[in-house]
Amino acid sequence: MMKIDLFGKTACVTGAARGIGRDIAMTLSENGAKVIGIDLDKEGLEELKTVTKEETFILDVSDFNAVNGFKDEFLAKYEKCDILVNNAGITRDNLLMRMTENEWDKVLSVNLKSAFNMVSAFSRTLIKQKSGTIVNIASVIGIMGNAGQANYAASKGGLIAFTKSVAKEFASRGVTANAIAPGFIETKMTQALPENVREEYMKFIPLKKFGTPKDVAGIVLFLSSDLAKYVTGQVINCDGGMIM
Ligand SMILES: NC(=O)c1ccc[n+]([C@@H]2O[C@H](COP(=O)([O-])OP(=O)(O)OC[C@H]3O[C@@H](n4cnc5c(N)ncnc54)[C@H](O)[C@@H]3O)[C@@H](O)[C@H]2O)c1
Repeated sequence: MMKIDLFGKTACVTGAARGIGRDIAMTLSENGAKVIGIDLDKEGLEELKTVTKEETFILDVSDFNAVNGFKDEFLAKYEKCDILVNNAGITRDNLLMRMTENEWDKVLSVNLKSAFNMVSAFSRTLIKQKSGTIVNIASVIGIMGNAGQANYAASKGGLIAFTKSVAKEFASRGVTANAIAPGFIETKMTQALPENVREEYMKFIPLKKFGTPKDVAGIVLFLSSDLAKYVTGQVINCDGGMIM
């Protein structure tokens, strides 16, 4: 029977200061990985550091040059990156008729361009290592679309297509890339939704409960482990059966 042991692995998790990213960072750390958390939220990172006992970085993942500067600093210290989790994400919901150019650009840039920034920055290292795994946190909205979230849906749908392309490009070098599509997960992002919207979502969830960050973190753990070494280019839904 295989056991999950990430000892000796170095992981980089974006959006690690709270919510899903925080649980991903903690779960990888609890299972032996050296986890480096990235976020804009200094306080959240400080708190994470007390648990993971590793360095954290304040970084805007949508900034191409900043990400490349971070990558140089990261590799100078840690030399390799075995697990790269692109989790940072935002919403700026609005009906298309009212959606501003800024709302569109911001969401595409934080949710999608960030993954390009991170993966391209680490691509040489991953290819040279001939091993590694990339996990991108997408959303069921990227598969099904949603009124009022055209920017978010486009970013997450794009992230899924990006993941599959990376999987094809890096497969011959032993690097896997997969996406997770969470449904409704209880975090600050969803707490902001009004009660009637939450009730509406619940109607479409066969398991009749919302997910937790731990539910997503468990799938990241699996994808980061040897148990998933023959899995690449996939989208794993974590949504209580909302879409099937
Ligand atoms: N909560 C859900 O129901 C749900 C569902 C589907 C997908 N997701 C996705 O999961 C991911 C995490 O969501 P969450 O609910 O934990 O959100 P959250 O808002 O609680 O946390 C997101 C984290 O990302 C950080 N972040 C935002 N912009 C950043 C930037 N430019 N650079 C670095 N860090 C940045 C934030 O500071 C925050 O700590 C997101 O990509 C989100 O789209 C969430």
